[in-house]
Amino acid sequence: MKNLTPFDPVPLRAHFPALQLEVGGETAIYLDGPGGTQVPQSVIDAMSSYWQHGGSNSGGPFLTSRYTDDITNAARAAMMDFYNARRPEEIVFGQNMTSLNFSLSRALARTWQPGDEIIVTRLDHDANISPWLLAAQDSGAVVRWLDFDPTDCTLRLDLLPDLLNEKTRLLTITYAANAVGSITNVRRAVELAHAAGAIVLVDSVHFAPHGLIDVQALDCDFLISSAYKYFGPHTGILYGKYELLDELMAYKVRPAPAKPAGKWETGTQSFESLAGVTAAVDYIASIGGKASTRREQLVQAMRQIKAHEMALSQRFLSGAVQVPGLRVYGITDVEQLAERTPTFAVSVEGLSAEAVATKLGEQGIFVWHGHYYAVAVMERLGLLDEGGLVRIGFVHYNTFEEVDRVLHAITQLK
Ligand SMILES: Cc1ncc(COP(=O)(O)O)c(C=O)c1O
Repeated sequence: MKNLTPFDPVPLRAHFPALQLEVGGETAIYLDGPGGTQVPQSVIDAMSSYWQHGGSNSGGPFLTSRYTDDITNAARAAMMDFYNARRPEEIVFGQNMTSLNFSLSRALARTWQPGDEIIVTRLDHDANISPWLLAAQDSGAVVRWLDFDPTDCTLRLDLLPDLLNEKTRLLTITYAANAVGSITNVRRAVELAHAAGAIVLVDSVHFAPHGLIDVQALDCDFLISSAYKYFGPHTGILYGKYELLDELMAYKVRPAPAKPAGKWETGTQSFESLAGVTAAVDYIASIGGKASTRREQLVQAMRQIKAHEMALSQRFLSGAVQVPGLRVYGITDVEQLAERTPTFAVSVEGLSAEAVATKLGEQGIFVWHGHYYAVAVMERLGLLDEGGLVRIGFVHYNTFEEVDRVLHAITQLK
């Protein structure tokens, strides 16, 4: 793919067939990225070419099986670059984030004693809460909750030291909140948790399309994301420090490999999706233009994506204050845009979240409504039984014109 710098979403959009969709004679506006993004043609081609080539299960001594192994190794190398992992064995593929988290929680809970403690946060998607609540129930561990500030929906990391003690075994924390966009200072959380002897798992599903992930700089023990949130297929990808993946007992069948990453990869993987994962990482890297390594391209790409998305956020927030009855949850201070993704949970006075999403949907503007599985967030905001909020989520392929169009559409709602 040609050098796409300096950042401009318009030529990029040409790579995404789905973005050409029209509803009622107008180009559709995809503001549902936090629920799953669209994919570029290169991802579609990589996935279909897996089948066209002739696929097979892994580990056989013949052409199509070797091809499958090459596809898997390439995806591991791509995700190693995406996460900045130290070695390919630290990359584990699975069905999705939720399934990987359930596997990991079961393995970790075996190491806990009754009375051990774990910390979950109220800012998280339920896929990073319920697996841990259930694991705690199974093992007799005590669950502690880290709150967020309901005024701007930022995590109260200042309260973390009070929750940590010598019994804390795990802190599981979101990198960015899928409901309201707040970004967590994960590095600081890891420092605090490690000082108390706890390990840290990071849910980076919502963060991943919006910023650079560097597991070495974060020093987190585990981190999970899902490629369908960053222009790829429906596959989950777990990073774990090699020593931990090696020493923990994975639930697996007997002939499966005894060593990472294979010991964590249950059953047969979606190899066509792995082909798509590599293509998705390569697509993001291509935004960064020329550089000596793919990792360096990703660094450049994420810098540009972040700048564009902050500009989209600024445009959205400055327009939103002009719309009567529109309330934006989360960080609204334009000086703090670096601390949020361009994901906005909003309410419109006099209309339910469902009614707003439905009316916008009729005009070809795709937004989610409800709780989006951020059950604890909606509970804390007192909105769970009120039908939740409307979520307007931008990604790098969205334009300023789309920001203006959605705001204008909201002003016209009755
Ligand atoms: C922040 C966050 N975590 C976890 C998940 C669950 O991911 P998956 O669908 O891959 O299980 C989602 C999905 O929306 C999410 O947004």
